[in-house]
Amino acid sequence: MPNLRFISPQDDATLADWQHVHNTIIPTDPLSLDVLRERRRRYRLEVAYVDDVAVGCSTVRPPDDETPNVTVIARILPPHRRQGLGRLLYARCLDVAATLGGAGIETVVLASNTEGLAFARALGFEEVETYLLDGATIPYVALALPGRGCAA
Ligand SMILES: CC(C)(COP(=O)(O)OP(=O)(O)OC[C@H]1O[C@@H](n2cnc3c(N)ncnc32)[C@H](O)[C@@H]1OP(=O)(O)O)[C@@H](O)C(=O)NCCC(=O)NCCS
Repeated sequence: MPNLRFISPQDDATLADWQHVHNTIIPTDPLSLDVLRERRRRYRLEVAYVDDVAVGCSTVRPPDDETPNVTVIARILPPHRRQGLGRLLYARCLDVAATLGGAGIETVVLASNTEGLAFARALGFEEVETYLLDGATIPYVALALPGRGCAA
């Protein structure tokens, strides 16, 4: 078993590791450190390390007026996939989500991201909505965990 650690980014160095993983996986929507400093206050962010190497990151968004569900997103860099790390990171997101209330649990995956969709379905999520953001060409798929009073 690798030496796996999870850290909530309280300092800029850890936040930069979170940013690196996010922006590598989602180059179409790169996030600046300034944006992340602000998101860190509203969302629960975490970085997954194998030894001292950042291999993944996660976001847990509390429910708000627009989205009554807690939103969880796990990301693992391609060289580290299919070793169970995504499942471990996601389980930690669920533990946090359980403390945040909300109508249910949902996740969002870019429709072209077949690995993300396969992962979400393997973990029991079911598709509830496909939507296109203004100016975008690839839709997002919203998926929710059934049986948790999920609001689509
Ligand atoms: C989704 C993601 C986090 C999966 O990370 P991972 O470390 O490879 O996931 P795991 O190894 O824990 O896989 C768990 C299960 O998901 C399914 N799965 C994951 N990737 C898959 C793929 N490419 N094809 C088919 N099934 C897949 C399998 O059932 C797998 O279990 P198994 O390996 O025992 O068969 C990673 O692919 C990623 O970061 N994708 C981009 C971000 C994203 O779309 N996140 C999804 C929102 S939660």
